[in-house]
Amino acid sequence: MKASKITKVTTHVLQEMKLREKKISMLTAYDYSMARIVDSAGIDVILVGDSAANVMAGYKTTLPITLNEMIYHASSVMRAVERALVVVDLPFGTYQGNSREALLSAIRIMKESNANAVKLEGGKEIIESIDRILSAGIPVMGHLGLTPQSINKFGTYVVRATQDEEAQKLVEDAHLLAEAGCFAIVLEKIPAVLAEKVTKEIKIPTIGIGAGSKVDGQVLVLHDMLGINQEFSPRFLRRYHNLYEEIKGSVEAYIRDVKNVDFPNEREQY
Ligand code: KIV
Repeated sequence: MKASKITKVTTHVLQEMKLREKKISMLTAYDYSMARIVDSAGIDVILVGDSAANVMAGYKTTLPITLNEMIYHASSVMRAVERALVVVDLPFGTYQGNSREALLSAIRIMKESNANAVKLEGGKEIIESIDRILSAGIPVMGHLGLTPQSINKFGTYVVRATQDEEAQKLVEDAHLLAEAGCFAIVLEKIPAVLAEKVTKEIKIPTIGIGAGSKVDGQVLVLHDMLGINQEFSPRFLRRYHNLYEEIKGSVEAYIRDVKNVDFPNEREQY
């Protein structure tokens, strides 16, 4: 049997990266084919985000996606991944306000998808759920700042924690999550100076999205950075491709070839 040279990324590797000031790269993926490409490119962390509700299922918010649907996406990703650490979002309604349900949801994800960790949105309000999941030996990633599962409370997707009170609560929550034993925290859409302060104060890695460069790593939604999703263009998003136009152009060319009986040609038949 050929020996594999691939060294799996673990939560300990991420901790080491913070200590050595090496940046952590993280992207979302929701299916086998994309996860295979992203993993083979060398990404450190793959997030099976509940943003699947938006980019895979077409919902306006992340709220409708179910635990079964997240497990389906996570299992597909896990069949593809050899190296990256795979983190799965606990969907809305499966962990808030009931730590026993939170534990059972996290266990289902780990058992049925074989993923490496789970992610939960929130700080003090959900600390009981986080404690209980951690006590079962399941690694937890936190998520502070703009937490899309709370969109009905916030009302908008604007930058969070621009005022002192909310910024102070975010710093306290970050300390609480780190002390509880979370292995990393996503900081979404908050002022860069606040993200830098949190990153300096806590010992676990921070992964930013719209949080500036002075964090330990960055995450983007794959469909946004590839330009598949054209409607979403916040300031923090860097587009590396315009796949919407590329795919559309290819489909148009295929349609033309079929209509003109140019496809298949003699070499493309038996
Ligand atoms: O669901 C998701 O994709 C996320 C990222 C935006 C961090 O939580």
